Amino acid sequence: EMTLEQREFYRERIKEKLQARDAVMVAHYYTDPEIQALAEETGGCVADSLEMARFGKEHPASTLIVAGVRFMGETAKILSPEKRVFMPTLEATCSLDIGCPEDEFAAFCEQHPDRTVVVYANTSAAVKARADWVVTSSIAVELIEYLDQRGEKILWAPDQHLGAYVRDKTGADVLCWDGACIVHEEFKARGVEELKAVHPGAAVLVHPESPASVVAIADVVGSTSQLIKAATEMPNDTFIVATDKGIFYKMQQLAPEKTFIEAPTAGSGATCRSCAHCPWMAMNGLENTLAVLQDDNGCGQEIFVDPDLARRAMVPLDRMLDFGK
Ligand code: 13P
Ligand code: SF4
Repeated sequence: EMTLEQREFYRERIKEKLQARDAVMVAHYYTDPEIQALAEETGGCVADSLEMARFGKEHPASTLIVAGVRFMGETAKILSPEKRVFMPTLEATCSLDIGCPEDEFAAFCEQHPDRTVVVYANTSAAVKARADWVVTSSIAVELIEYLDQRGEKILWAPDQHLGAYVRDKTGADVLCWDGACIVHEEFKARGVEELKAVHPGAAVLVHPESPASVVAIADVVGSTSQLIKAATEMPNDTFIVATDKGIFYKMQQLAPEKTFIEAPTAGSGATCRSCAHCPWMAMNGLENTLAVLQDDNGCGQEIFVDPDLARRAMVPLDRMLDFGK
């Protein structure tokens, strides 16, 4: 554990190095509060995965430091091939990405050539390169609605819970891959019900990577940005939140007078407290961020995407950005 003085030292060095290298930080809401704060203070962004992609593409800096997980860095690189993209560590991956290997996914697509292939942003560049569309949770329902109205049948990957949610909301023909997020799949409806009994005025905010039983008792289902918006706009003074606890930093900052409670991850009663936090998001720290900035080659933590793969993956990614406008 670092002392306060050490943290301050790291923060100051990182700020200097960002300037010196014409670099900007792009951080996800699930990263640790000090990483989010640093991104904000230095003119970067803290955002959901769709906004991160947009920010990275539009920002004039020549170097991006993506504090999040691997697919976010890859997406940034694909959308800005001329920029250098680094991550505090390339080891930060995602269970959805791991659970959807390119070769198996390709075989699945080949079995269903009549379906429009829609993949979640939480996938590798190789999986995106096979897709017709990329989506994030903030636009998934709208996009599937649009494709359904055009009479298209959908092949969806990799998150089965988000896939089931969009199928349920739209009535579209959605064939799902069976991936899951290791953080969200642990939330338990019974535990949320018990917490609601203790806090009857609380609103329940749920990320759609959670199981259907938890989504069913949500007052609001949405992407991280959409949940933060709900937390600030709804009149309730207490919220039960089923998503990674990194999100509490922004919720508390925007609504300091409100109370935010973590949704339980085991049905062991209303006093159950989880530590719902993505182990890969947690790998983004002050030390590895500074190390990457101090080394010309970013300590080997630079994102490279095969140019041919990147060209193919850019097509469905650009469709996502256009559709999300
Ligand atoms: P958002 O697009 O809602 O930010 O979600 C990304 C993610 O990894 C959720 O686990
Ligand atoms: Fe992947 Fe879940 Fe972590 Fe998001 S929280 S990056 S979906 S493992």
